[in-house]
Amino acid sequence: MQSKEITVVGLGYIGLPTAVVMAGAGHHVKGYDAKKEVCESLNAGKIHIVENYLQEAFTQVRENGCLEITEEIAESDIYVVCVPTPFQEEENEKTADLSYVESAAKEVAKVLKKGDLVILESTVPPHTTAMMTEILAEESGLKKDEFYTAHCPERVLPGKILYELKHNDRIIGAKDPEAAEITKELYETFVVEGHCYVCDDVTAELCKLAENTFRDINIAYANQLSMLCRKAGIDVFRLIELANKHPRVSILTPGLGVGGHCLAVDPWFIVEKYGEDASLIRTAREINERKPYWVKDQILKDINYDKEKKIGILGMAYKPNIDDMRESPSLALAGALESDGYMVYGCEPNSHSDTIGNIRLLSLEELLNSCDYYVVALAHDEFKSDAVKKRIMDKPYYDCIGFLRG
Ligand SMILES: NC(=O)c1ccc[n+]([C@@H]2O[C@H](COP(=O)([O-])OP(=O)(O)OC[C@H]3O[C@@H](n4cnc5c(N)ncnc54)[C@H](O)[C@@H]3O)[C@@H](O)[C@H]2O)c1
Repeated sequence: MQSKEITVVGLGYIGLPTAVVMAGAGHHVKGYDAKKEVCESLNAGKIHIVENYLQEAFTQVRENGCLEITEEIAESDIYVVCVPTPFQEEENEKTADLSYVESAAKEVAKVLKKGDLVILESTVPPHTTAMMTEILAEESGLKKDEFYTAHCPERVLPGKILYELKHNDRIIGAKDPEAAEITKELYETFVVEGHCYVCDDVTAELCKLAENTFRDINIAYANQLSMLCRKAGIDVFRLIELANKHPRVSILTPGLGVGGHCLAVDPWFIVEKYGEDASLIRTAREINERKPYWVKDQILKDINYDKEKKIGILGMAYKPNIDDMRESPSLALAGALESDGYMVYGCEPNSHSDTIGNIRLLSLEELLNSCDYYVVALAHDEFKSDAVKKRIMDKPYYDCIGFLRG
């Protein structure tokens, strides 16, 4: 495939690395974000997210002239939509908030021409690509068969995004097989090791949700085991280690819960669409959402409900060595302790903030010096030295992740 003009819409954790990798493959990429401060930071040469090797790669493609950042949507042949798809909660039911996809589609429609391709990368409930196609047609005045649309969900691991964008297999779904083939050709220009598989749009949409739901259910099982092992008085981490010696068993690790913009969100998109046929998926989600509150109960028993004790949480992000706190179970735990009147502090070495909501963030040294009880939520690199581990174990603690085991 020849070099293409591509506009990437939404320059967050997914859109920015995708724009950089596409530019690195020789395409002329125009990155656009609705947030002015994001564009300003990028135009000043500084990336606004934490991701390994991204700053260097970004600087390089900018210097080569392959990536420009625009504060208005720029016309291209191909549009790649990477906007957020959080959930919204109404009467205890969680449903996908597709307002960002809708607004992005309206933006793209302003510049859409015959023959263009619009790829939706955001994680979405089934039939959202069809909804985006409707909006594009309605707003642009083009007929639906005068432009192409496809869905290519993202499955990268934060921290390894640049590597995984080039090495992971991709699923590309479109109602129109020609749209899927054109999208496949584009992705094959930068997916150097992985394969690109094509299917229809709804299969691709559900495939992404099914992948994350599989992991969420597996972790819910591990979390449930952790709760019943506490009652049984045995070490859940040893139990899982031994169970996984079975050649066909692979139980994931329990933790404080499950966070992030993917695993904690995507299963709800299946429940939303297929409610009564998705009871296992809903139950797993509920177990993982309840876990921080169960941990809170264990902590309170440990400190004998003493409100004079200062509780320090090590790790406020949703996973190790990143700054992303979306749906973080540490925030749920901290919020629950704080609203019950307990003194709670967080330590998040990847964040420059002093507070998150009502929770004060301390440096590792401050937290270790000032707190009476520690909760180990994440295995950040900063916590891994023997000296830090020893200081944690010198006081009472709750180790959610088996970090301090032998
Ligand atoms: N972060 C991950 O690890 C990951 C992994 C796989 C899939 N996903 C999915 O990818 C999608 C994007 O996630 P993210 O983590 O990059 O989100 P993000 O919040 O980091 O970035 C999204 C960006 O889109 C911008 N935006 C919103 N509406 C816009 C519009 N109309 N026009 C232009 N820009 C707009 C926002 O300002 C923001 O900068 C989501 O659907 C998410 O579920 C994320």
